[in-house]
Amino acid sequence: FHWHLTEDQGWRIEIKKYPELTGTGAWRRQEDGSMYGGFYTQDEVRDIVRYAADRGITVVPEIEMPGHAQAAIASYPELGVTGKRLEVMTRWGISPNIFLPSEYTFNFLEGVLDEVMGLFPSRYIHIGGDEAIKDQWKASRKVRSLIREKGLGDEEELQSWFVGRIGEYLTGKGRNLIGWDEILEGGLTKGAVVMSWRGTQGGIEAAQQGHDVIMCPASYCYLNFSQSENEPALWNRKHVTELKKIYSFEPVPPELAGTEGELHVIGAQGCVWTEHLGTLGEVEEKIFPRMAALSEVLWSESSTRDFTGFCRRLEGQESMYALMNINYYHEEFEKLHKK
Ligand code: ACM
Repeated sequence: FHWHLTEDQGWRIEIKKYPELTGTGAWRRQEDGSMYGGFYTQDEVRDIVRYAADRGITVVPEIEMPGHAQAAIASYPELGVTGKRLEVMTRWGISPNIFLPSEYTFNFLEGVLDEVMGLFPSRYIHIGGDEAIKDQWKASRKVRSLIREKGLGDEEELQSWFVGRIGEYLTGKGRNLIGWDEILEGGLTKGAVVMSWRGTQGGIEAAQQGHDVIMCPASYCYLNFSQSENEPALWNRKHVTELKKIYSFEPVPPELAGTEGELHVIGAQGCVWTEHLGTLGEVEEKIFPRMAALSEVLWSESSTRDFTGFCRRLEGQESMYALMNINYYHEEFEKLHKK
């Protein structure tokens, strides 16, 4: 279970060394002036980690850097490039506010990661790395002189240096860094595991460079996408990923099949981003039954996959979902019953 815990729009995990992360960073002002937010206490996190472990599931935490950092910067303005006081972001999308690569920031991130590692026994720690807009870095004299001082070529290499430094910190504690595929830009950090979401190309390149890879190209693996043309989109742009399409997913792309790189594809992941899903029931409706298709893809050889056979078995699964009170997506089953 990959658990995305920090965003521009909210910081969701208690960190004792930095109480403002949840005092300030977990709350955003709504249009009517009221505050929206909340966070998981460390006790709650431990409960979730234990509950998952009892079921053979490891929880991999994600703490975003250097972008998607506005809630953290709102809590501790010294973390930002501009030094301005910010509010937690109140609209969706990507904030231009990015961590200043300073000793203060690294000390902060190490302090956060120390507590995170204390809570999560996972060998893997996800540090985000996606969608880091570097305009503030480009505009900052302080950052430009750091780039020169470290002998780096540009802002992409600076992100790579940033991720490398965090990677060394994690390695020193016996953990491995995972990052979204943007961490390829400017050069991959030694030992980093890549999560390929913008298609499979990042995963292919990383595997060819000898890095482990988790495949989750959005067009197959993002479960917040619509399940049929009939289902309204959660975001402005409509993307449809039907059950059949997920079943056709091939976690080892042809470019890697039969090569050394194939061994570096350690798995794939279904992702469900919940900012537009208000209840657990709505989340379940996105996950089931598409997760069953992804699961079968992941634990079977491609030569044995058979969508018709899968659908037949899935029909039997419906009563199981009902027994477990899972709010599964019905349309797929209506289609099956009609056949
Ligand atoms: C992502 O969807 N930004 C990883």
